Amino acid sequence: MERTLAIIKPDAVERGFTGKIFDRIEGKGLKIIAIKMIHLTKKEAEGFYKVHAQRPFFPGLTTYMSSGTVVIAVLEGKDAIKKWRDLMGATNPKDAAAGTIRKDFAVDIEKNSVHGSDSPESASYEIPYFFSGIEIF
Ligand code: CMP
Repeated sequence: MERTLAIIKPDAVERGFTGKIFDRIEGKGLKIIAIKMIHLTKKEAEGFYKVHAQRPFFPGLTTYMSSGTVVIAVLEGKDAIKKWRDLMGATNPKDAAAGTIRKDFAVDIEKNSVHGSDSPESASYEIPYFFSGIEIF
């Protein structure tokens, strides 16, 4: 069993895709073991994405991620990290395969609707960034 962090980003929450995205997650056999809705501060977004702090897109990314409500979840299942990334599709929706969330819902590479941990190491930073032990079921 593996755990991963999922974020439904402001563009997808605002346009009403939260339910459809959770439907795809559960349809893939992943279990939702924690959920919260939150409006991040700029500092909270910067802390979450600190691995990208030197990248040119960091200021835009953190401004965007603190611009509206996000829905954050922990997913559990066999190969949960890969399964969630396969459901999401490529970072840039232009490159995303047909039937993926980013192909179907994303606006552009910044407003790309969803985030997922990219490795077990990332998941072990990202999950406790948002959830304490008693919030995970
Ligand atoms: P995410 O999976 O949340 O991880 C980092 C985010 O940075 C990524 O999705 C994109 O939303 C955003 N981003 C913006 N520009 C770029 C870029 N040129 N390359 C990669 N990620 C980018």
